[in-house]
Amino acid sequence: MQTGKCSIAIDGPAGAGKSSVARILAERLGFLHIDTGALYRVLTLQVMREGVKPTEAVDVVRVAKAAKIQIVPGPQGIKVLLDGEDVSDAIREPAVSENVSLVAQHAEVRDYLLVLQRQLAADGGTVMDGRDIGTVVLPDAELKIFLTASAEERARRRMKELRTQGHKVTYKDVLLSIRARDNLDAERLVAPLRAAADAIPIDTTGKDVDAVVEEILGYLSAVGGLEGCSMDS
Ligand code: CDP
Repeated sequence: MQTGKCSIAIDGPAGAGKSSVARILAERLGFLHIDTGALYRVLTLQVMREGVKPTEAVDVVRVAKAAKIQIVPGPQGIKVLLDGEDVSDAIREPAVSENVSLVAQHAEVRDYLLVLQRQLAADGGTVMDGRDIGTVVLPDAELKIFLTASAEERARRRMKELRTQGHKVTYKDVLLSIRARDNLDAERLVAPLRAAADAIPIDTTGKDVDAVVEEILGYLSAVGGLEGCSMDS
């Protein structure tokens, strides 16, 4: 079997549904799903464990270089390993969410993770989700999608997720945290959260994940499906 070279980039703010949409889309296409937020989150977890200040770029890069970060695709989504330990749940803790955008603002950190992200996508056949995939990481992706939803809907979704995981959070706190992260991500100087000029915007407010996946598959057919992506011959 020949590996496809086609890449799909999905960007958007916190809670817009990127990861769920990307995971199901990848499943439907037989592609690899790469959740780039998980990379920033696992690094943030290690920064917190080592007591390093997320605002200190040099220290954060030192932690990044010393940590062994692995992303392992599986049937329930990706598994994230930090020095061999499964930290897939730990990286979703609210404390990590509070710090991750501070870690992600440094040019040196982003450069380091950029190399890793491009290596992960090198064989193609990838659905990659994040904030700067269409603009910086995979500017030549065959299809680029920018997912949005109102901040209120995104906060409601995230609150439900966190409560399912056993966290006692209020709607107001989740909304504030999402807004703070949106601001940091959109205002940072390097690779800010932004739709690529050639990205297709999809507002997911009031739509479930399957509906969004179907919409993207529709766009994929409109651009000629997977032809020209050197898929299985
Ligand atoms: O899942 P959620 O929308 O909460 O966020 P995420 O995709 O896990 O990303 C967590 C954070 O990592 C974001 O708020 C960004 O600060 C950073 N990030 C980034 O800067 N660039 C990416 N390509 C992916 C994530």
